[in-house]
Amino acid sequence: MLNPLLISSLTVFALSSSVYGVAVNKRLPVPAGYVAPPYYPAPHGGWTPDWSESYRKASLIVSGLTLAEKANITAGTGIFMGRCVGNTGSAERAGIPQLCLQDGPLGLRNSDHNTAFPAGITTGATWDKDLIYARGVALGEEFRGKGVNVHLGPSVGPLGRKPRGGRNWEGFGSDPVLQAIGGGLSIQGIQSTGVIATIKHLIANEQEMYRMYNIFQAGISSNLDDRTLHELYLWPFAEGVRAGVGAVMVAYNAVNGSACSQNSYLINGILKDELGFQGFVMSDWLSQISGVASALAGLDLSMPGDVHTIPLLGNSYWMYEYSRAVLNGSVPVDRLNDAVTRILATWFQMGQDSNYPRPNFDTNTQDAEGPLYPGALISPRGIVNEFVNVQGNHAEVARAVARDAITLLKNVNSTLPVSPNASFKVFGTDAEKNPDGINSCNDQGCNKGTLGMGWGSGSSRYPYMDSPIDGLKFRGANYKFFNTDSFPANSNPSPNDTALVFISADSGENYITVEGNPGDRTSAGLRAWHNGDKLVKDVAAKYSNVIVIVHTVGPIIMEEWHDLPSVKAILFAHLPGQEAGSSLMQVLFGDVSPSGHLPYTIPKSEEDYPDSLSLVGFQLGQPQDTFTEGLYIDYRHFQKAGIKPRYAFGHGLSYTTFSFSNATISPVTPLTELPPTRHAKAETPTYPTTIPPASEVYWPENFNRIWRYLYPYLTKREADSAAAAANTSSKYPYPAGYSNVQKPGPAAGGAQGGNPALFDTAFDVSVRVTNTGSRPGKAVAQLYVQFPEGIEWDTPVLQLRDFAKTRELQPGESQVVELRLTRKDLSVWDTVRQNWVVPAGGEGEFGVWIGESSDLLRVRCGTGSGACEEGVVAPV
Ligand code: NOJ
Repeated sequence: MLNPLLISSLTVFALSSSVYGVAVNKRLPVPAGYVAPPYYPAPHGGWTPDWSESYRKASLIVSGLTLAEKANITAGTGIFMGRCVGNTGSAERAGIPQLCLQDGPLGLRNSDHNTAFPAGITTGATWDKDLIYARGVALGEEFRGKGVNVHLGPSVGPLGRKPRGGRNWEGFGSDPVLQAIGGGLSIQGIQSTGVIATIKHLIANEQEMYRMYNIFQAGISSNLDDRTLHELYLWPFAEGVRAGVGAVMVAYNAVNGSACSQNSYLINGILKDELGFQGFVMSDWLSQISGVASALAGLDLSMPGDVHTIPLLGNSYWMYEYSRAVLNGSVPVDRLNDAVTRILATWFQMGQDSNYPRPNFDTNTQDAEGPLYPGALISPRGIVNEFVNVQGNHAEVARAVARDAITLLKNVNSTLPVSPNASFKVFGTDAEKNPDGINSCNDQGCNKGTLGMGWGSGSSRYPYMDSPIDGLKFRGANYKFFNTDSFPANSNPSPNDTALVFISADSGENYITVEGNPGDRTSAGLRAWHNGDKLVKDVAAKYSNVIVIVHTVGPIIMEEWHDLPSVKAILFAHLPGQEAGSSLMQVLFGDVSPSGHLPYTIPKSEEDYPDSLSLVGFQLGQPQDTFTEGLYIDYRHFQKAGIKPRYAFGHGLSYTTFSFSNATISPVTPLTELPPTRHAKAETPTYPTTIPPASEVYWPENFNRIWRYLYPYLTKREADSAAAAANTSSKYPYPAGYSNVQKPGPAAGGAQGGNPALFDTAFDVSVRVTNTGSRPGKAVAQLYVQFPEGIEWDTPVLQLRDFAKTRELQPGESQVVELRLTRKDLSVWDTVRQNWVVPAGGEGEFGVWIGESSDLLRVRCGTGSGACEEGVVAPV
C-alpha cells in the first residue's frame, strides 16, 4: 500500500505537473529576437584528457551491454520505486548497480541522523572559500555514508534575479561570481568524497510559479539574450563544469520557448560543446516531456523515469520506449551509447566502482521496515532504514558557517556585542523551536518556530534544532521570552532591558503553498512574515534598546522600523540550519565579531527594482518571462540607475574596523582581444552504429514484474515490429538542423568550463588588510571590475570578480590577501563573434576596486597603469 505521505506528495506533484494531459512539446512563440536554435547532434563525451581514463573504462563495459541494459541505465525505475528520490535501472550482469539520487543542497532530504546544514544563501554570506569547501566535504561524507551515488546539489539557478523567487536561498547569492565560487567549491568538496554532485537547474529557472509543463499550459519561458545568458546565468554553470561536476540537472522551464529538457541549443550546444561538459545530463523530476526529442537534444538520464502527464502508472518516455526508438531507428544507437557512456564514465570518474556503499536509508518513510517499492500497489517489504549516523563532527562546520554568515547591518553606539549580564526580553516565535515538532511539516512546508531553512526538495529533517532560546539558556543568560508574534501587554519594560526581536521571511518550492505563498513570495512580498514589522515597531515603542534578528530567505523591506531611534542593531542570520542558537550567541555576546556580508542588495522599496524582476502571473498560453533588464539585476541595476539601496550587495559590519593598504597589481598572462585558439577535441569512444537485434529487449523468461515499475523490455511482437519499422520509409521527423556528424566544437570551448585560456590569470592582485579596531575580527576583501570607458559594449558600473576572507585578525594585525583576475573576468561575451572578447585587447584601463562591499571601496588599481591608490572617489 502507498503510505499517506506518498499519496500526498504525489497529489502535489500531480497537480503541479498536471497529470491529466498529453505532452505539450511544441515550441510556442516567444517575443521577437529570442531564439533557441537547433544544435545537433549531441556531442560525444570523453574528449578532455581529465576524463579519458574513465571513458576508457566505461566504454569497455558499454561495448558489452545489451540494448535493454543500456535503456535501463538511462532512466529511473519510476517515482517512489526505490529508496531514494531517484533510482536508476541497473546492469547487474556487468557489475553496474542501480544508482541512488538524493536531494538536496543543504543536507539529506527526508532522512535521519544527518546534519541540517545552513542553506546555500547562508554559505554565500560567509564569503569564505574555505568554509564553502569544508561544507561541501561534510555534505559529501554524509551522502556517501548513506549510500547516495548522486547528490542533487548544489543549486546555482535560480541566480536570484527576482527577489520574490521561491528558491533563491538554495543558491549562494545574486551575483554570478559569488554563485560560481559557491557552486564550484561545493562541487569540489562533495566530489572529493566520491559522491557525484549535480549542478542545477539549467537554466534561468528564476521563479517557481508556472515552472512545469501541463496539459493546459506550457511551462514558463525565460526569454533571454545570448550575452545575458553568458555573462550572468551561465557563469556559475561554467565554473561548476570547470570544477569537474559529474551531473547537470535541467530546469523545468523553457528558455526562449524551448523546454530546457529538450532544448538542443542549451544542452548540446552550450553545455556539452561550449562548456565541454563530460558528465551526464538529467531531467528535473517529471520535466521530460518527450522521448526522441529529448534524447536527440542531449538529455542522458530521465528522472524519475515516468511520463510527466500521469506518473506512477508504469509509463515512461524512455526505458521500453528508448528500446523501441533505437530498434525502429528513431534515435541513433550512437546517442544511447553516448548517454550510457557518460553515466558510467562519471561513476568511474568518482571512483564509485570500488567499495561504494549501497543505500541504507529510505526517503519515503522514517520506519525501519517498509515496502521496497512504495509506488507499487503490491510490493515486497523489507528493512529500508538502517539509521546510519553520518553526522561525524559536521555540526562544527555547520556552526562555523552559520556563525560566519551572520551579517551585522546596523550597530548604533556599539550596542553589539551585548554584555553577558544584560537583561533580555525576547520577542517573536522565530526565537524558539516549532512547538509542533521541528520536523512536523513535510519538507519543512511551514514557517513555525525558528526558521532554519526554506521549504521543498531543498530541505532536510533536523536532527535537532539549537534555537536562539536554547542558546540563551545554554549561556545562562538572564532572559524572559514571549513566545508570540504580537506584542504582549505583560512584558514590563524596564530601561535596563535589551529587547531581542526575532522575525522571519520564508519561501520554497512550488509544490507546497505556505501561508498563501506558492513557493515564491507572492502574498508575503518582501515583508517580514507574521506581522514582523508591527512586532518590531511595537517593541521599539516600549523599549529603548532593540536588536532585531532576521532569519530570512532573501531581502526584506525594513523601512517601517529601520530608522526608529530605539532600533539599535540589526543582524541577518539568514537560514542557519540546525545551528541557529549557539552561532548567534557567539556573535551576540562577542565571542567573535560578525563577518558575514550580504549576498544580495536590500532595497528601500520594492519599487526600486526594474518591473521585469516582478513575478510573472497567470497568462493565457505559455507564460512569457522576458529578461529585458539584461545584465542589470541586483546591484548592477541599483548602481546603473543611481538608486541608493538600504544596504548594498556585500555590506556587512564588524565589531572592529579594517584598513586596506599596500595593494599591488601585476600582469601574469598577457591579454589579446580573443583567447588563443582552442585545442581540437581528443578521440571519444566508438561503438558499432548498427541497430542491435530486437531480441536484446525481449522480456526475460519467467520475469517477476512489479506493477508500475519501469522496465526497458518489450514483448517479442513489439520489439520485432519496431525492428521491422526501421526498414520502412517512415522516419521520425527530425528537427530542423538535425545532423549525425559530430562537430569540432565552438571557439569558445576547448576544455571543461570553456576555452582553458579564459581561466588564465591575467592579473594577480594583492592587498594588505589590517585590523584597525580594538577587537579581533575577519574581513572580506571584495574585488570589483570596472570596464574601460569608451568601449563599444555597455557594461555594468562594477562587477564582482573575486573575493577572499582573512583569518581572524587580532587588533593591529595584518594579512596580505591574494586575489586574481582571469581573462574571462575582463571579457564581454560578443554575440557576433560568439566568443569572449577583451575590450581593446586589454590595452584599456580597467578599474580594479577592492573594498568591504559594493559601495565601500577602499582601493583602486588600474590594469593599464599598474598602480594602486587608496582614497580614490569610487564610481558608486
Ligand atoms: C524537483 C526540484 O526542482 C529538484 O531540485 C529536485 O532535485 C527534484 N525535484 C528531486 O526531488
